[in-house]
Amino acid sequence: MKIVVTLRCKQEKRKMDQDVYVLGIESSCDDTSAAVMKNGELLSNVVASQKVHEEYGGVVPELASRAHQQNIVPTVDTALKRAGIDASQLNAVAFTRGPGLMGSLLVGVSFAKGFARSLGIPMIECNHLQGHILAHFIKTPGEQLETPEFPFLCLLVSGGNSQIVRVDSYNKMEILGQTIDDAAGEAMDKCSKVMGFGYPGGPIIDRYARQGNPDAYKFSKPNIPGYNYSFSGLKTSFLYNLRDWVKDDPDFVEHHKEDLCASLEKTIVDILMKKLRQAVKDTGISQVAVAGGVSANTGLREAFQDHARRYRWKVFIPRFSYTTDNAAMIACTGYFKYLDKDFCSIDVPIYSNTRL
Ligand code: KG4
Repeated sequence: MKIVVTLRCKQEKRKMDQDVYVLGIESSCDDTSAAVMKNGELLSNVVASQKVHEEYGGVVPELASRAHQQNIVPTVDTALKRAGIDASQLNAVAFTRGPGLMGSLLVGVSFAKGFARSLGIPMIECNHLQGHILAHFIKTPGEQLETPEFPFLCLLVSGGNSQIVRVDSYNKMEILGQTIDDAAGEAMDKCSKVMGFGYPGGPIIDRYARQGNPDAYKFSKPNIPGYNYSFSGLKTSFLYNLRDWVKDDPDFVEHHKEDLCASLEKTIVDILMKKLRQAVKDTGISQVAVAGGVSANTGLREAFQDHARRYRWKVFIPRFSYTTDNAAMIACTGYFKYLDKDFCSIDVPIYSNTRL
């Protein structure tokens, strides 16, 4: 045992002196993804999306877990090939430990642990939410990227999360406020389902909203203290209003889908931005980033640009490829943790609850 440990340390020391290659693995929900970073620059990012959930109008955990099992090996293999490296060149394997769906996380985490152990290299556990935020630091080779300065605020909005996070460093973050019920993306997805559209609903609502009047309809907005969010009241108000309108006109959605989507999107963006403005005012931090799947939304992106002009915020909006779940953000998080030698043991368990 002692010999093995000494040998590993030597291998580690040798690798520490050279280039640092980190493999990132993400499997928290319905995307299997693997990415490779060299010295903090992205060499490859492969995402295998699961179409199987579309017909159910939402992610089915058991099906997601099975699809991850099918996808994980070819996805990692492709990521290594696209990066032009061999597994033996890797210095560490970083993986999403949580939060997420347990059955989905288990596949990526088990693979990552086994892979790292077989290569005799450290494993690095990453928080999915931290990954979304650090997506703002993903650079491709030679790219001059303008990144947020610490401290900054980040609005993290996805299918499972709606949070305002204070980011003090790569590894120090604090949730200032978060949703007490549904997430913003979840509200979009559920309202989309009520209108009879597909899944995920966010991009569909975004598309129709571009041709509609955002002031055509009014939906209820929450009134809760602090920086917390709530979207369940809006969802119910949308559902009840729609029921009444459809009684008078069975084709109401078809006739008014653009205005419905524009008004819904505006209500969600208004709710998100109001609390964010308050957080900026109270903290005095005016560098503001947005992250997560909903950060792809056109109305939200425009609201950020508008706030930059009106309130002199310095805003950071991620590239579309890094808004939804991806392993590039996990490789990036893993790289920063690698520099801190923040490694984990093989028995580290997964978690499903929201935390940073
Ligand atoms: O971050 P993500 O890929 O997965 C997690 O939830 O972790 O986010 C998915 C969410 C879905 O709710 C989807 O409807 C929403 O992001 N989304 C959008 C847009 N693109 C994706 N919401 C609004 N507008 C979009 N363009």
